[in-house]
Amino acid sequence: EKGGYEHFMLKEIFEQPRSISDCMRGRLNASTGHLMLGGIREYANKLVNADRIIMIACGTSWHSALVAEYVFEEFCRIPVEVEYASEFRYRNPVINEGDVVIAISQSGETADTLAAMELAKSKGAIIFGVCNVVGSSIARNSHEGAYTHAGPEIGVASTKAFTAQLTVLTMMALRVAHRKGSITERKYRELLVEFEQIPAKVEKCLELNEDIIKISELFKDATNFLYLGRGYNFPVALEGALKLKEISYIHAEGYPAAEMKHGPIALIDEEMPVVFIATRDSSYDKIVSNIQEVKARKGKVIAIVTEGDALIPKMAEFVIEVPSTNEALMPLVSVIPLQLLSYHIAVMRGCNVDQPRNLAKSVTVE
Ligand code: M6R
Repeated sequence: EKGGYEHFMLKEIFEQPRSISDCMRGRLNASTGHLMLGGIREYANKLVNADRIIMIACGTSWHSALVAEYVFEEFCRIPVEVEYASEFRYRNPVINEGDVVIAISQSGETADTLAAMELAKSKGAIIFGVCNVVGSSIARNSHEGAYTHAGPEIGVASTKAFTAQLTVLTMMALRVAHRKGSITERKYRELLVEFEQIPAKVEKCLELNEDIIKISELFKDATNFLYLGRGYNFPVALEGALKLKEISYIHAEGYPAAEMKHGPIALIDEEMPVVFIATRDSSYDKIVSNIQEVKARKGKVIAIVTEGDALIPKMAEFVIEVPSTNEALMPLVSVIPLQLLSYHIAVMRGCNVDQPRNLAKSVTVE
């Protein structure tokens, strides 16, 4: 059942070119400009005309929501709030008419997400579910929704479900933006063309596996890691750190790179590996300065960069090159090397990657 892979997690990482295409199948066609999510019909206008979108999730699904916040705000010009389900449900949240909720969950059974969604529903909100497990509680109790169609995810650490969530949420945002007219036809078509190329670009990232094994070997005994990114890559930094923590038991923190100088910079010395997600985008120059700041304090920099980057390889100890794409789609690409890095480090440390200690695949109790 592991299809020749040593662990489900590795199999699921390698399945991503296919799971992302499966997620797009029948929904997106760049050559015709078709983009349609069959599960969102009756309430589609609620989303298009939403005054505010509230996204509710936990863990990795919460990271998908953070990426989606940037996508929805940029292209749809709708304000988005991303909430931890466990906080949202206990603080008497303000929900107004015109607010729309998107509940995101791989399992569709996370207790806090389910309860938060029920609370929002009782206050009159329309709920869209983004779930992987068909027929799960969150899927059944939403008004409408879209499945991620990533197939069963067995590894406790979420990988292919994350990229499928990003795929669905981005499709939702582009559909809304197109309907609203908040992006030009040209930009929309351009993005669809880029989007369709993502599975092939993920495939290219998987070819980096051998290089990542070598880097993992050098850092497997580290006791701390810092992950830094800006813009669309900030949630990717959080996700990279979570992956490392949960399966290798190495302490890791993800931060927006600019926040470093508000505290975490104090941690940096020659023992501290710092993973920068520094692909070419609108915050590139800023992140280059952040890399310089880390280098000045002798931190060891591992940088995820866009193919052909000439500057960062002169600064970083290790560079991992990924294919270029639109910055809004980059998390689908830039997260892949981070999944592999945490996987290999955990295996080298002798950890049970598919079933890490203290964790369950779905958290059905609060
Ligand atoms: O099934 P869900 O997406 O609702 O699960 C949410 C979190 O429990 C989950 O993403 C968790 O953080 C994963 N172990 C992360 O890899």
